Amino acid sequence: MIINRLLQKKREKEEERRAEERKMKVWKQRKTLRSSAVFGSKIPFVSEDAIQIKEFIDGGSFGRVHRGSYQGTPVAVKKMPVGEYPSKSLELIIPLYLSHPHIVRMIAVCRKEHEILIASEYIHGANLEQILHTQCLKLNEEDKTFVALEIGMAVEYIHGRNIIHQDIKPANILVSERSKTAYLTDWGLANMKDSLAQFGISASGSFCGPRVAGTPLYMSPEVLLHDKRCTAMSDMWSLGLTYLEMFTGTLPWTLNNPFAVTGVLLKQEPPHALAILQPHLTEIVEPLVKYEPQSRMNATALVTRLKSKVNLVKKYGYEW
Ligand SMILES: Nc1ncnc2c1ncn2[C@@H]1O[C@H](COP(=O)(O)OP(=O)(O)O)[C@@H](O)[C@H]1O
Ligand SMILES: [Mg+2]
Repeated sequence: MIINRLLQKKREKEEERRAEERKMKVWKQRKTLRSSAVFGSKIPFVSEDAIQIKEFIDGGSFGRVHRGSYQGTPVAVKKMPVGEYPSKSLELIIPLYLSHPHIVRMIAVCRKEHEILIASEYIHGANLEQILHTQCLKLNEEDKTFVALEIGMAVEYIHGRNIIHQDIKPANILVSERSKTAYLTDWGLANMKDSLAQFGISASGSFCGPRVAGTPLYMSPEVLLHDKRCTAMSDMWSLGLTYLEMFTGTLPWTLNNPFAVTGVLLKQEPPHALAILQPHLTEIVEPLVKYEPQSRMNATALVTRLKSKVNLVKKYGYEW
């Protein structure tokens, strides 16, 4: 009798264990399905061992960036946790649409159990924030005007493709040490209209991804104060403040803390560094930092204006 009861208990325990195992299996399958639904089946993932990770370069808000290699080619590898930030999947999709000489190219993506690795072309140099505030690379005014033109062209290109960056700032602009070529990077907060249906994201005709996003210091008044969706014109504001910081070498706002920016925006103060900007550069920066988004200069007009300020033949060998 006692033995029977013990055997019965053992069978029950075994059954419980099996049920738990089945539950875990289904949960794991669902989890995989969920992440493949988020990341889409059209992303050409490569195998884990194709990407080698070397030393740590930099770490920002979400990812951690390392130097690495992909099939012998030097790359920068950004590690992103899976699942924690669903909108981050756009960080993989948007670069698939981009092919521009002043946008960092995504080379390969790898999906591991807990993280995604994004391998991009490695830019040997520094980001503009480091350049401006540590002087690790010297840029003269002519170099800076070319940086402005190259990033302006990258922004004209993305806006023409219905993509808004939402986080334009010096830290997201890379400059190569040798050629001083500038590259726009970091699609972590970017947003895109149309064309996403093929990735299983129902966003046709509207934007998806984070609604209000950015780095407060560079965010436009309509986005930071009025909770409006970021538009191409909000990118132009952030670009204007980035140029202002680049040309003056100081932060666009003089504040006790970065959150005080809402106070100055509410008072519609002009960005403080405008007061020390060289007069011949105001026609580049001022039209970008208008409080009314519709009054701001767009990327096409900006590029035309910047082209008239540089000697294209001297840098590129030809004019266009
Ligand atoms: N392709 C690259 N080549 C060289 N450095 C890079 C590259 N991508 C990123 N970095 C470095 O890593 C930093 C953070 O990268 P970013 O993509 O902006 O990630 P986060 O989401 O963390 O801001 C950059 O500011 C830059 O210093
Ligand atoms: Mg960044």
